[in-house]
Amino acid sequence: QFILNFITDNRWLLLINGLAVTLKITFFAVILGFILGFGVAVVRNIYDNTKKLKFLNFLCNIYLTVIRGTPVVVQLLIIYFVIFSSVRIDKSFAAILAFGINSGAYQAEIFRSGINSVPKGQMEAGRSLGFSYPQTMINIIMPQVIKNTLPTLANEFIVLMKETSVASYIALDDLTKAGDVIRSKTYSAMMPFLAVALLYLIMVMLFSYLVKLLERRLARSGR
Ligand code: ARG
Repeated sequence: QFILNFITDNRWLLLINGLAVTLKITFFAVILGFILGFGVAVVRNIYDNTKKLKFLNFLCNIYLTVIRGTPVVVQLLIIYFVIFSSVRIDKSFAAILAFGINSGAYQAEIFRSGINSVPKGQMEAGRSLGFSYPQTMINIIMPQVIKNTLPTLANEFIVLMKETSVASYIALDDLTKAGDVIRSKTYSAMMPFLAVALLYLIMVMLFSYLVKLLERRLARSGR
């Protein structure tokens, strides 16, 4: 009976739409986080090496402390209900902003350790060959950083995808919310949420598999 109803009404459409929203938000949030995290990591690296950009480094530290010290749900609620309380904005936009800003703080740490994993001598070698700091950073350090951090970044994608399930707090129609909508319409909770869990699981397993392939490829090209 459940299967029959599931196929004849459009519950599965709700779930698929929810999944699409979840993936969309995750994708754009990871990109926003990439830009923020990368920028923060570079600023901190410049400060560590040259003691320049003291004020910017100070701001970055505040950003990291506040974002990593508070729950992402609270950040989402503040962005949606406080910062954008007087303007009508798309819920997905608020979610992308919240998760992007959140992810940026975690990605900053990923890039920081990525930059630190490149031996210091390479920066010195680049500088002594007449490259400027930005030139050395872009041409010599960054390609290695990207390569070293790619698996961890892909992992951040997986973490964030699961994390976006709290977007239901602002009634955003993501995958989790779709399950809840079906629960409230059918008065049955088990099947909708099992379906939701299964869809997350399939996505996570799929991306984990892709990360593994990626790691193997990188290991081969590194030899
Ligand atoms: N669950 C934690 C929180 O509520 C972590 C959030 C995000 N983690 C991440 N790697 N982007 O703050």
